[in-house]
Amino acid sequence: MERTLSIIKPDAVAKNVIGEIYSRFEHAGLKIVAARMKHLSREEAEGFYSVHRERPFFADLVEFMTSGPVMIQVLEGQDAITRNRELMGATDPRQAAPGTIRAEFASSIDANAVHGSDAPETAKQEIAFFFGADEIYSR
Ligand code: PPS
Repeated sequence: MERTLSIIKPDAVAKNVIGEIYSRFEHAGLKIVAARMKHLSREEAEGFYSVHRERPFFADLVEFMTSGPVMIQVLEGQDAITRNRELMGATDPRQAAPGTIRAEFASSIDANAVHGSDAPETAKQEIAFFFGADEIYSR
């Protein structure tokens, strides 16, 4: 069993597709074991994406991620990190495979509907950024 952090970004929350995205997780065998809706502060968004702070798109990314509420969840299942990234599709929705969340719901590289941890170490850090161990309900 593996865990990953998933965020439904402000564009997808505004489109009212939280349930549709949750349904994809569940059908793929991923269980939602923690969840919280939150409007991120600038400090939270900058902290969460601090690994990207030198990238040219950092300011746009923080701006976008604080533009409205997000839905944050921990997904648990076999190969949860890879499975979630397969469901998400490529970062740029123009390159996302048909049927993926980003192909269906994302409109641009910044308004790209979802975030998912990319590796076990980042998953651990990202989960701990938002959830205490006592807020994760496994089994
Ligand atoms: S990396 O190096 O593979 O982690 O980078 P990448 O996955 O491509 O992007 C990291 C996150 O930055 C977002 N991103 C952007 N935001 C705004 N503008 C531009 N041009 C842009 N390019 C990338 C991208 O959506 C990733 O966000 P997360 O939340 O991690 O999916």
